[in-house]
Amino acid sequence: MAAPRAGAPVLVGGAANPPLVAAVARLLQVEPTSGQAERFPDGEQHVDIAGPVRGRDVYVVQPTSPPVDQHVMELALLADACRRAGAGAVTAVAPYFGYARQDRRVRGREAIGAHLACAVLHTAGVQRVVAVDLHSSAVAGFFPGPVEHLSAVPLLADALREALPPDPVVVAPDLGATKLAMRYARLLAAPMAVVHKLRMSGTEVAVQGIIGDVRGRTPVIVDDMISTGGTIEAAFHALVTAGAKAEVTVAATHALMVGTAVERLCALPIRRLVVTDSAGPPPGPLLPTQVVTVAPLLAEAIRRLHRNASLAELRAQE
Ligand code: R5P
Repeated sequence: MAAPRAGAPVLVGGAANPPLVAAVARLLQVEPTSGQAERFPDGEQHVDIAGPVRGRDVYVVQPTSPPVDQHVMELALLADACRRAGAGAVTAVAPYFGYARQDRRVRGREAIGAHLACAVLHTAGVQRVVAVDLHSSAVAGFFPGPVEHLSAVPLLADALREALPPDPVVVAPDLGATKLAMRYARLLAAPMAVVHKLRMSGTEVAVQGIIGDVRGRTPVIVDDMISTGGTIEAAFHALVTAGAKAEVTVAATHALMVGTAVERLCALPIRRLVVTDSAGPPPGPLLPTQVVTVAPLLAEAIRRLHRNASLAELRAQE
């Protein structure tokens, strides 16, 4: 085993989620170093690392949440600045990793955005990525260095267990979430069902059918992320049509809540919405939201990486 790194880890915080940076820093008992992002009049971002990093291992905490391009570029600039200032190793701690949904060409003349995002970050000087519940584990293959893929599912399942509805059925709102739902169903000792969803556009989805028996049961819909809320909305209506109870619990690791997501979800009889703080500020008081912080998970991962210890128990199960 390699020797533990010298000195405390240097934590550099980007602008995407300052409360999360502060919480991780508190747990690690370090003072976070700010990246001091500013904008030139033409819109370019400019960063300047506030403290010394020479010879030190740096962890840049920056989810690449909406606005995704801005946060990816800021992360790349922070990594580049650290590398040029003589940092030892630069790790990007991006609990929400944007572009992960673009992991293949579906229709033909498309880019593979996940691959490009990995290439940009690596070129900038990121040597390792720490992410939570990646939409696609293809990211681990696209990034040339190690990708530590952690999971918040055990934390979210613990929170769900505190007030699970009677007769729950764990529901994957699309085929891609089937393995995720299997993990929740196992942890919650509940049956599961899968919604067969078709995506028509970025904001529109259609349901083809449901696999599994949901009649008379209360759905617990689980997903890796909520973006526009269209997937949850379509799954809920399909479940009720199939005989499920007309109330729903929703759990997702990444609460992106873009566009009219909050209004969309407010129109559903949501009993509880359980999400993490991986992406940014929580959805606000209109929804019955419980936020589970990923700060202890990230702090523990950084602690272990810094002393070259195993992350086995923190890892996502593919
Ligand atoms: C898609 O495959 C993902 O797992 C989510 O289901 C999806 O990205 C959620 O997006 P939206 O909330 O916009 O339907």
